[in-house]
Amino acid sequence: MGAEMKSIALIGFMGSGKSTVGRVLAENLDLPFIDLDEEIEEEAGTSVPEIFSREGEGGFRNRESRALKRVLEEGQAVVACGGGVVTVEENVRELRERSVVFLLAVSLDEALRRIRDDGAARPLLAGPEWEEKARRLLEDRRESYLGAAHEVIETDKASPEEIAEEIARRWRRYA
Ligand code: S3P
Repeated sequence: MGAEMKSIALIGFMGSGKSTVGRVLAENLDLPFIDLDEEIEEEAGTSVPEIFSREGEGGFRNRESRALKRVLEEGQAVVACGGGVVTVEENVRELRERSVVFLLAVSLDEALRRIRDDGAARPLLAGPEWEEKARRLLEDRRESYLGAAHEVIETDKASPEEIAEEIARRWRRYA
């Protein structure tokens, strides 16, 4: 597939700003914005935490892979992926083949701060010791994030607008 046809995929840990940045970026580039978690919820007719509790993480990952495939086949868009999309190798292959993959890199401290503030329900971090769970998860996934990314963007000290601008600037090199 030619680069001009490819979508822009945003990956990164929970709290890395994928959805916020994705909305700004899509608006700036006049492309459709797709939030993969929202796609999954729409298709399932229920929320992400509810899917985890009914079907377990495995059930959620199956839904996520199906939704990702469908979305990437639908045409050019800015796609904000869930933080765990890189844990499935087939997802990474699809993403790298059909999109330019941008990793929104975030430090643990900054991710914790944003997660604490944004109030989104995250089943993998439910309960006490959620900060320790996040630390371990980020550590376990670090290599997968880096391996999946075509481009890495540091997000700790930048605003969503600045990050979107940097992505658009690098994106033009692929067209
Ligand atoms: C997950 C991240 C969430 C959501 C689900 C699992 C993960 O998305 O897909 O709770 O495994 O990191 P966000 O990264 O948008 O919070």
